Amino acid sequence: MIPGDGIGPEVADAAARAIDATGVKIDWERIELNADLIQKRGEVLPNEVMDSLNRTFTGLKGPVTTPIAGGFQSVNVALRKRLDLFANVRPIRSLPGVKTRFQDLKLDMVIFRENTEDLYSGLEHEVVKDVVTSLKVITRTASIRIANYAFDYAKATNRRKVSAVHKANIMKLADGLFLRCCREVASGHPEVRYEELIVDNASMQLVIRPETFDILLLPNLYGDIISDLCAGLVGGLGIVPGANMGEKHAVFEAVHGSAPDIAGKGIANPTALMLSGVMMLIHLKEMDAANRLQTAIETVYASQGAVTRDLGGNATTQQFTDAVIAAMK
Ligand code: NAI
Repeated sequence: MIPGDGIGPEVADAAARAIDATGVKIDWERIELNADLIQKRGEVLPNEVMDSLNRTFTGLKGPVTTPIAGGFQSVNVALRKRLDLFANVRPIRSLPGVKTRFQDLKLDMVIFRENTEDLYSGLEHEVVKDVVTSLKVITRTASIRIANYAFDYAKATNRRKVSAVHKANIMKLADGLFLRCCREVASGHPEVRYEELIVDNASMQLVIRPETFDILLLPNLYGDIISDLCAGLVGGLGIVPGANMGEKHAVFEAVHGSAPDIAGKGIANPTALMLSGVMMLIHLKEMDAANRLQTAIETVYASQGAVTRDLGGNATTQQFTDAVIAAMK
């Protein structure tokens, strides 16, 4: 368990309590990783983080703040690269009872975001004063790998369509390569419908007819942005979980960041990290515990018993967590 910083420790405690209440036996190893510690230690990924993940291969992680326009490198990006967590999987699902502009639609899509390269390569360079380049790295290896992951998932879960999102009309080489890899993998899966959308059009289509989407397959940056857009369709960042999957390691974390505007107030919505915990339990093949937690969360929302402020209620993080635990009994 990496609680992180900002609202991280609050939602991590809530998620751990809810997971423990399912009856599953998890011997949590709590590892500190936050902006203060990184600044003090002068290293982005302290040894104890890597040691723990190299021993357990599984992590539940809260958000970690990244300084803007300067300061240390993103811990989140560093962790994904170091452990080669190449697939960022983010299910976007409507929850019963959650009021949104799209509440009549039962949205159910899954984002597959390439997680290791693109403009997140961190290769930036000031050529001369006031002229900067930032390298967008796209490789065949990483593009084929994420496309395979998305199509294999589509096949295993009987999904009907994969939409690849790109800007290959402008970045003909970089996004062109990503797209060619997606096409190559798609051609091996004739049973799954495949379409391509330019990212600007995809953004509009997602807002006006989100129900027509199923699986979204994107390079890193578009995947990051479209994830928040899609979170907005189902009620916001408070409820959207995620997984960073590698060949060996898996780190589960919400889509949201450290939310400094509400940190320390006890009002953050822990649903996103709890649902990331559900994904972790499924990964650990603890299906009963996963079902118990998922059902309890849905029960609380369906009854609108304890709803946090981001979704229009006034329950605290703790009251929501208590309600989820009560629903399990
Ligand atoms: P953010 O996701 O932290 O917050 C955006 C908005 O959503 C805020 O108004 C916040 O209050 C709200 N929100 C987020 N999670 C919520 C929750 N669980 N319950 C209720 N409301 C919630 O994004 P922001 O402000 O752009 O980034 C803050 C920091 O987080 C930055 O340093 C950023 O780099 C970092 N970050 C870290 C991530 C990670 O650790 N995986 C992911 C995204 C951002």
